[in-house]
Amino acid sequence: YRNPATNIHPMQHQVSRSTRNKIMGHRAGFRGCTIWFTGYSGAGKSTLAFALEDYLCNRGIPAYVLDGDNIRHGLNKNLGFTQEDREENIRRVAEVARLMADAGLICITSFISPYTKDRDNARRVHEKDGLTFLEIFVDAPLSVCEQRDVKGLYLKARKGLIKDFTGVDSVYEPPLTPDLDVRTADYNIEASVEQLVRLLEEREIVT
Ligand code: PPS
Repeated sequence: YRNPATNIHPMQHQVSRSTRNKIMGHRAGFRGCTIWFTGYSGAGKSTLAFALEDYLCNRGIPAYVLDGDNIRHGLNKNLGFTQEDREENIRRVAEVARLMADAGLICITSFISPYTKDRDNARRVHEKDGLTFLEIFVDAPLSVCEQRDVKGLYLKARKGLIKDFTGVDSVYEPPLTPDLDVRTADYNIEASVEQLVRLLEEREIVT
């Protein structure tokens, strides 16, 4: 992204979404979409994302999780945690999610994605292409996430061993109008997945 290419001419696919439906196992029209989880480290994004993927795939519905820690080992291994790098991280993930959704998958993304602007851009990238984008706020208070400290990162950040840690010395902008607010401090995993499935039913993504 530092030396953008010129003379690029995008091609149109000849395969329609309705043809992809038939291949991917259609239930209620085209169901390729992106379910975008956002929240603090330790809020439960990955746990919920993988539980939802498991639920859907076990019912024959193709779903695939893009997870922060995984993507940062491969596609985005050249990015850190400055505002600029987080923005680029989310921009790339939004584009990959859009491709997966366009291919007919339910793409589930699990990234802190702390900036409203970047999440709004991810939504725009989908909606301009006629793809459903659902923003899910994995909503656990910072104090709870810090208490859980599953990876011991909050402690390190408080000691100054990690810089720019979200919630400690880097900002998190909570979504004001998410499609769903999952309060993981108040509900267990099964109940949270149930809320997500209900949303997908309401939006006729699953039946
Ligand atoms: S972002 O903000 O969306 O670009 O972050 P993301 O790609 O989701 O990566 C977050 C995971 O990276 C680990 N980690 C950090 N998080 C926040 N701030 C800093 N400085 C940091 N350094 C490493 C952390 O394990 C996050 O994982 P989750 O799953 O969110 O706990």
